[in-house]
Amino acid sequence: MRYKAPRGTQDILPSKVERWQRLETAARRVMERYGYREIRTPDFEEEDLFLRTVGEETDIVAKEMYSFTDRKGRRLALRPEGTAPVIRSYIENAMWKERRLQKLYYLGPMFRYDRPQKGRYRQFHQIGAEAVGSLSPLVDAEVIAMMVAVLREAGIRRLVLKLNSLGDTTSRASYIKALVKYFRGHEERLCGDCRLRLKKNPMRILDCKVPSCNELAAGIPAMEEYLSQEAREHYDQVQHWLRVLGVSFEKDKNLVRGLDYYTRTAFEVHHGELGATVALGGGGRYDGLVAECGGPDTPGIGFSLGTERVLLAIEQDKALRIKFEEDKYVRKAGYYIAWLGDIALKEAFSLAGFIRKKVRVEMEFEEGSLKSRLRQADRLRLSHAIILGENELKEEKFLVRELSTGNQEKMELSHSEEMRNEMVKKLIPYYDAEKKYDKAMDDLSYRTISGALSEYDGS
Ligand code: HAM
Repeated sequence: MRYKAPRGTQDILPSKVERWQRLETAARRVMERYGYREIRTPDFEEEDLFLRTVGEETDIVAKEMYSFTDRKGRRLALRPEGTAPVIRSYIENAMWKERRLQKLYYLGPMFRYDRPQKGRYRQFHQIGAEAVGSLSPLVDAEVIAMMVAVLREAGIRRLVLKLNSLGDTTSRASYIKALVKYFRGHEERLCGDCRLRLKKNPMRILDCKVPSCNELAAGIPAMEEYLSQEAREHYDQVQHWLRVLGVSFEKDKNLVRGLDYYTRTAFEVHHGELGATVALGGGGRYDGLVAECGGPDTPGIGFSLGTERVLLAIEQDKALRIKFEEDKYVRKAGYYIAWLGDIALKEAFSLAGFIRKKVRVEMEFEEGSLKSRLRQADRLRLSHAIILGENELKEEKFLVRELSTGNQEKMELSHSEEMRNEMVKKLIPYYDAEKKYDKAMDDLSYRTISGALSEYDGS
């Protein structure tokens, strides 16, 4: 075959897209419950935005960015993440004037030249949120709780939430000193890249994937001991309010995150089946980011979930898998028009246009046997077929067949309002069944969630 989707990208085919839609709908539902509103920013930005915010020394910027020069010589980059663009837009649109605390969410593609493997792609998608304008630890707890709520609404169990504080600028400076001292003592065990990092950005050593650096990183001093009084109190408060909201977490002193803009709270959420190296999502506070990008000194915090990874986690769950498989057997309310002959095609075409103003109709445009047509209607899991053959046409009638029972009746081929209502009425039991099915599906995911809650909370 001549063309293939580029390495690290994938087609989301119609057979899979329903899962995406369900997840995205669930995420929107939850985030809107928390008062977040959607924002859509461009898929590419000035390259410098990411150099300055995510950080030139990070893997994301140094190794993974899709940067290019446009026809007028501007340096641009496909966005590798969503936070910097949201902050750019927040400043450009002076959003603080509208409301002091802006609560924004986004869904969309991100691009990183990562090594493709399970759960790691070059074009992937994120579901993310940013709360800009408050330093309150209550906001930290709420944002984290919302992230967990999105995952629970999607029916995911066995979450592990890891939490750390990276301190404010004062605590960060003394911590970095301690880190440098520690790594200097073991410099010979660091990889070449990390020796450079030791000079330029020692925190980045903590997310190096080379095993010897990894082992060394396990012995680092705990950030918590270097937190300033203020940062420590903030961290304590975040933990307190997480407990109040019933969100369990594990403290992880090695959690640093792969982006430079973080201050204070940092977190990641992992899933039992996906393993420790593949996070479902993560985030944290970025109190200096708005000012760094040229806006007023404004704190912020947010998270992003990797959509593909969340879907992988859903697939790992047996109950949810059954749910999606069962979906195949539910007949959908709608008509399939099987026509025979040229005259019938014309009649079928206008009939479809007429009924479609109210309900779903499918038809082919090429000649075919009645048998193959009915087989196709069945494959599409539609509830009814309309049969329009020569005999029916002569009588100015058509046949409506209920596909699950084979029952059929003749109807007048008049394009009247009445006829359209009649066609809708026939589908009502199927719509009801679909609704019942959807509710059963929701109940199933809630059951899974309550199971998850007891597992997750260790109760
Ligand atoms: P991040 O940890 O770089 O954070 O990415 C968040 C999530 O995106 C990851 O946990 C993962 O699920 C997903 N992800 C990242 N890279 C890939 C990839 N190559 N393939 C598939 N999924 C991937 C951020 O992006 C921050 N903007 C999060 C944030 C929001 N912090 C504050 N606000």
